[in-house]
Amino acid sequence: MKLTRRSWAEPFKIKVVEPLKMTTKEYRLRAIKEAGYNTFLLRSEDVYIDLLTDSGTSAMSDYQWAGMMLGDEAYAGSKNYYHLEDAVRKYYGFKYLVPTHQGRGAEHIISKILIKPGDYIPGNMYFTTTRLHQELAGGTFVDVIIDEAHDAENEYPFKGNIDLNKLETLVKKVGAKKIPYISVAATVNMAGGQPISMENIRQVKAFCDKHGIKMWCDATRAVENAYFIKVREKGYQNKSIEEILREFCSYFEGIWVSAKKDCLVNIGGFLATRNKKVFEEARNLVVVYEGLHTYGGLAGRDMEAMARGIEEMVQFDHIKARIGQVEYLGNKLIKARIPIVKPIGGHAIFINAKKFLPHIPQIQFPAQTLAAEIYIDSGVRAMERGIVSAGRNKETGDHNYPKLELVRLTIPRRVYTQAHMDVTFESIVEVYNRRKEIKGLKMVYEPKYLRFFQARFEPLK
Ligand code: F0G
Repeated sequence: MKLTRRSWAEPFKIKVVEPLKMTTKEYRLRAIKEAGYNTFLLRSEDVYIDLLTDSGTSAMSDYQWAGMMLGDEAYAGSKNYYHLEDAVRKYYGFKYLVPTHQGRGAEHIISKILIKPGDYIPGNMYFTTTRLHQELAGGTFVDVIIDEAHDAENEYPFKGNIDLNKLETLVKKVGAKKIPYISVAATVNMAGGQPISMENIRQVKAFCDKHGIKMWCDATRAVENAYFIKVREKGYQNKSIEEILREFCSYFEGIWVSAKKDCLVNIGGFLATRNKKVFEEARNLVVVYEGLHTYGGLAGRDMEAMARGIEEMVQFDHIKARIGQVEYLGNKLIKARIPIVKPIGGHAIFINAKKFLPHIPQIQFPAQTLAAEIYIDSGVRAMERGIVSAGRNKETGDHNYPKLELVRLTIPRRVYTQAHMDVTFESIVEVYNRRKEIKGLKMVYEPKYLRFFQARFEPLK
């Protein structure tokens, strides 16, 4: 036999396994009904393959677990804090570190420090918790991502890029003084895990310098972004992930990170900056909301695992296999003509629910419906990223109607095998084949904040 290509495989082997519960369709029908047709409200033990999120769901390495035994559980000055500080300095390039219990803890603090009531915060598409903290601090989020990002079919390689014309329009309209910083996400979760290019960041930096606007980055998945720069952007093929990440971060005054993603830990986050004044304020606020500045709501062992996760996340073989697995599932779906967001993103496959269920209007929650149907079919748990996630307009109280109505199949890092991806693929094809029979949902309970986590639904007759 003549081979046309050689396969890759995961650069690890499995040392510990967690058995999964197999359920019947009748069982799952009951479970999703009890959960109000919201996959966030399912019990994890009733889920077979859990693609709800890549957040805090990574498998840690033996090196990280060994580090857990070295937790220095001192209230103040834990040695694990200093190890984490070294790792953040070395790989992200920021001198000052403030750990937090997770990403939104850092978002809360940085929003409070930088935003005054009446300010505007431009960003490359909103993220749920990021925007909420900006609004709670009195700011208004303004989307300045390129139009391509709102089009699920557009195959532009850097759909996370910022549209400089949109940014300029905002500056002209409200004045640079009302814009404390630009909030740049790498990658852009809600656009489908899409990257932003180094070239675009350089242009945005030049623009912001001219107008005296600070640059801050949600670097939660910046390693995945660095991988896309390496494989897609001219001039970066021969640079290491480590070098790309450092260059990327060098354009920002600071970053906040949910360490539950790239950094390969189950809990944790941080804020890092080169601005001493901002750091001092953050270090002060963290003791109000999270914990002393040398633990920020984390155990010593968690900081140790994070420091070690940071060392592992930049390994090329790791990130190649991680994104390779996402692409494996995505390419199978594309071949089967299932409508998904293209190009395939870094952490997840996003099914285009508007195209999958064109007979269900957006107000009947097609993505919420589809996520429930996939669970009923196979026990695979996905998540809605559409009208429910988008919440309501602050002024009018009406739903926000996002262009993208998506179901996210989020792949945890180092957790599932190719066979799990095959089972997931087959389940989606099965649901697709009977898509015409599927009916929408109505919302019967809606919490005030971040409604997608806790909202409840009932099937329409
Ligand atoms: N920023 C981005 C880009 C995120 O994806 C998340 C979390 C956060 C900030 C908040 O961090 O959860 O540690 O407080 N995203 C998760 C997800 C919840 O499923 O996409 P956190």
